[in-house]
Amino acid sequence: MKTFCQVIMTIFCILTIPNIHAQTDYKDVAPIFYSRCTSCHHENQHAPSMMNYSETIALSYAMMSDLMTNKMPPWPPDTSYTRFEHEHIITTSEKNAIINWISNGGLAGDTTLAPPPPVYSPFQLNGTPDLVLRTGMFTSNASSTDAYNCFSIPTNLTQDRILRAYEIVPGNVPIVHHVVVNLDSMGTTSSSLSGNCYTITGDIGIGGYAPGAPPTVFPGQAPLKAGIRIKAGSKLVLQIHYPAGTIGQIDSTQIRLYFYPIGTTGVRTIYNNVPLQNWGLNIPANTTRTFNASYTLPAAISIFSDFPHSHKVCTSLVNYAYQTNDTIPLIRINSWKFDWQGYYTFRNLVKVPSGYTLFSSHFFDNTISNPNNPNSPPLNVYAGTSTTDEMLFDAIQWLLYQPGDEIIDISSILANDPLLSANVNEPSSDLTQTYVYPNPSTDLLNIYVPKESDYRISIFNIAGQRISDTMVTDNFTSLSTKNVPDGMYLLKIEDTKSNEQFVKKIIISH
Ligand code: HEC
Repeated sequence: MKTFCQVIMTIFCILTIPNIHAQTDYKDVAPIFYSRCTSCHHENQHAPSMMNYSETIALSYAMMSDLMTNKMPPWPPDTSYTRFEHEHIITTSEKNAIINWISNGGLAGDTTLAPPPPVYSPFQLNGTPDLVLRTGMFTSNASSTDAYNCFSIPTNLTQDRILRAYEIVPGNVPIVHHVVVNLDSMGTTSSSLSGNCYTITGDIGIGGYAPGAPPTVFPGQAPLKAGIRIKAGSKLVLQIHYPAGTIGQIDSTQIRLYFYPIGTTGVRTIYNNVPLQNWGLNIPANTTRTFNASYTLPAAISIFSDFPHSHKVCTSLVNYAYQTNDTIPLIRINSWKFDWQGYYTFRNLVKVPSGYTLFSSHFFDNTISNPNNPNSPPLNVYAGTSTTDEMLFDAIQWLLYQPGDEIIDISSILANDPLLSANVNEPSSDLTQTYVYPNPSTDLLNIYVPKESDYRISIFNIAGQRISDTMVTDNFTSLSTKNVPDGMYLLKIEDTKSNEQFVKKIIISH
């Protein structure tokens, strides 16, 4: 029987070396790739596959620099300003673990010890859509420049419906750079397939698709049921961007729509507007300029998502709402990239009271130091819809404010949405998806929780005594088990913010 002193010694030994990052081979870093990268980096995507050791190691050189420069994973919004749903981010310790693995030779080790890779299906939403609209077979017309084509597709709806969710599924993913969808509620637009459809027609913005984008699901259960109203006879207009060099390749993109059942009551309307626009942009060659736009609200609103938009001379932007002594942050992008844009959904509805002013400021760098400048040498740039022009065009999706909106937690409503449940294409944020490896372990136990939070990690022996207790503010950690006697133990991980718990049986065998 162990003395009290021995127990204390064990605790002491474990606590003195809590966070050694001795990740040496592939199995140690594989869970990071699976939760942070492979949603975009798997077979037949725009991004090269990273689903196993050999595919991953082949990209290791580019990976080092892309991680160090924060190019990958791509997430333009500044997370110290505001937070959104579906963020593509990586924690510092995860990043360091990958960098250390590569700089120590990127060893394969026993790759069979890596957790099983996620399985991706072409469709991310559960169930059968109510309506599927297709562009039909289209042969890309993008030769030496990018092509933008607008497909105007009749919904053939005979009565009004409320959109609850949709997903855009490119037929030929590697050549579909992005898709923007507008609703044409009069049903009067026609397709424009010349490759120069820069201005997408229609009167209501619905959303879009960029590589790795999740499907769009509006909150569909108490305390918030909401959706976009679609009139009978409407058309949907899909603007699809095919990159230069894809000429001759065939695509057939579809949009799969889910509606609220006819007669559903209590569904609040989501509106889409572009309150922040500036058509007076004038950025002379070799200069930098800041342009703003503002709009004062005549009524209180609750903002669901923000879609800031500019082209390639813009390098940073910010949106917020303000009144004399108060500022409500919306979104800040410190390194704007035309290629990575989308509707950013807030985790909580953002209340903006009546009388507040929505404000946008975009910074434009029309010098040679802007690597994305479309002109070399720089040319004068004015407002316009072609990608070599500039735009300040920031849209929001919003609802009329109702008391209590500000406490509505969009994340938790969506987390329980049956359309999304068991959705493998989203990085899991469920504690049950925690990886503990290797198990049995000898000297080191790696713990990977697929969610950022603060954790208390404890090890209990069979007698129920806590023999180790570690507080971590990271979701990736390694505990030394060198001084833990052989035997069976219980590992308990508590999320100290949400009080969720995860318990797993572990075996230590030296
Ligand atoms: C939201 C989607 C997305 C996520 C998440 C993502 N990537 Fe990428 N990645 C891309 C796309 C798309 C490309 C192709 C190049 C481009 O368009 O920028 C790419 C390119 C790369 C490249 C360059 C490949 C080459 O051929 O040179 C590397 C390396 C890379 N990603 C690493 C990572 C790593 C590591 C992670 C996870 C930590 C990650 N990416 C997460 C979308 C993503």
